[in-house]
Amino acid sequence: MGGVVQRSPRFSELNDDDVRYFQEILGKKNVIQDDDKLSAANIDWMHKYKGASKLILQPCNTDQVSQILKYCNSRCLAVVPQGGNTGLVGGSVPVFDEVIVSLSSMNNIISFDKVSGILVCEAGCILENIMSFLDNEGFIMPLDLGAKGSCQIGGNVSTNAGGLRLVRYGSLHGSVLGVEAVLANGTVLDMLKTLRKDNTGYGLKHLFIGSEGSLGIVTKVSILTPPKLSSVNVAFLACKDYSCCQKLLQEAKRKLGEILSAFEFLDSQSMNLVTNHLEGARNPFPTSLHNFYVLIETTGSDESSDKQKLEAFLLGSMENELVSDGVLAQDISQASTFWRLREGISEALMKAGAVYKYDLSIPVENLYNLVEEMRSRLGDAANVIGYGHLGDSNLHLNVSVPRYDNKILSQIEPFVYEWTSKHRGSISAEHGVGLMKANEIFYSQSRETVRIVVYY
Ligand code: FAD
Ligand code: MLT
Ligand code: ZN
Repeated sequence: MGGVVQRSPRFSELNDDDVRYFQEILGKKNVIQDDDKLSAANIDWMHKYKGASKLILQPCNTDQVSQILKYCNSRCLAVVPQGGNTGLVGGSVPVFDEVIVSLSSMNNIISFDKVSGILVCEAGCILENIMSFLDNEGFIMPLDLGAKGSCQIGGNVSTNAGGLRLVRYGSLHGSVLGVEAVLANGTVLDMLKTLRKDNTGYGLKHLFIGSEGSLGIVTKVSILTPPKLSSVNVAFLACKDYSCCQKLLQEAKRKLGEILSAFEFLDSQSMNLVTNHLEGARNPFPTSLHNFYVLIETTGSDESSDKQKLEAFLLGSMENELVSDGVLAQDISQASTFWRLREGISEALMKAGAVYKYDLSIPVENLYNLVEEMRSRLGDAANVIGYGHLGDSNLHLNVSVPRYDNKILSQIEPFVYEWTSKHRGSISAEHGVGLMKANEIFYSQSRETVRIVVYY
């Protein structure tokens, strides 16, 4: 975390009249003061950031969100929007005593057009529920991430979440066609277009994608979803060094291009962490130790030619010695055990103790150097692991320690940010800025860029 933040005296403190007003507009059951619910909503997924809010508001529609914000604005009450509370940068919980506006009750699918694949839904829909809905309709979400069981589409849009399919379907700036959002003064902005092309003026919706609640509350989303294709294959591969992973990525883009739907990597330290801490997680290559592992997924429409293509790619990669060992999932259950090894790393890190988590965009050729440099900086004091969305040049550098320790933190920061900036990377590839990186934004953005947003 950056410097100590002080509560601004500009903001009022919540009183009984406020609570009564909220009860009038939302009904008593949607104005939550229950201790257990407040404790859960005040603390983030990593148990690292903790607020002291005394109130959760759970609106059921856009009009209620608008009334809440209008009132809070007039009373100078600070608010924090909360989706599934799976954010990893401390943005989803109050810093002090902000009123929590939870979108959980706004969880309806509004419409789905089977011809265009365009889905319109409320912001509180849980990602996995949308995925199941679409699966029944023969479509998929262009976005998938390990937190799918809890995160909400409004949270995904507000963080511009990347995840496991970005290499194929691109970022939410491409697939989100429209949003409805409520500004701090209660104004409802209807930008809920369902068009792929619309050049009438500024692309205002893009400001809300990734703005982490700083511009308003996203209440509805329209999103373009791709058809579900019949043939999905997953390969789990072992590589002797990072250079092989990198070359394998280049080859995969060339040889699997149109069917490549994921290219993920983890180092042996990540593999050890997962197999040590997650029940049932096993290294598919138990007898030999490898330095790196790559998970490749292909998605296409022709079972036999897709498989042939992937097998030829694997054979070629073994002959070229880019891959030391490999296994192709024989069924869905084996494919999900491979995915678990990759998606389970964040959960395994939580079980291992405290974690300093960094989410960096770095040109692929330099990406793993940072992990190695960090390892030599910290020595035995910490377990430094590297994994991530290699297909998108996105490294997740995590430093696992038994407990938080300021001495270790001072060896990591600002080094990690300086290193990333020096290599023209981004200090937040997909998790956002939140509280964690609010003071570090200048490592990735110029002063003029930040200032122009503050002015308007
Ligand atoms: P929250 O955590 O509740 O909120 C996140 C931010 O958005 C906060 O600043 C909050 O104020 C704001 N916000 C939430 N809802 C709204 C709204 N409706 N309107 C305005 N602002 C809002 N992220 C990735 O990008 N890629 C990954 O692969 C990935 N994997 C993850 C795996 C695990 C196991 C976990 C725990 C997290 C992962 N994340 C990943 C991070 C996180 O899940 C995403 O950032 C997700 O998009 C957050 O959604 P949420 O609904 O939980 O939002
Ligand atoms: C992931 O890709 O697993 C997520 O972004 C979560 C994390 O970095 O821990
Ligand atoms: Zn990620």
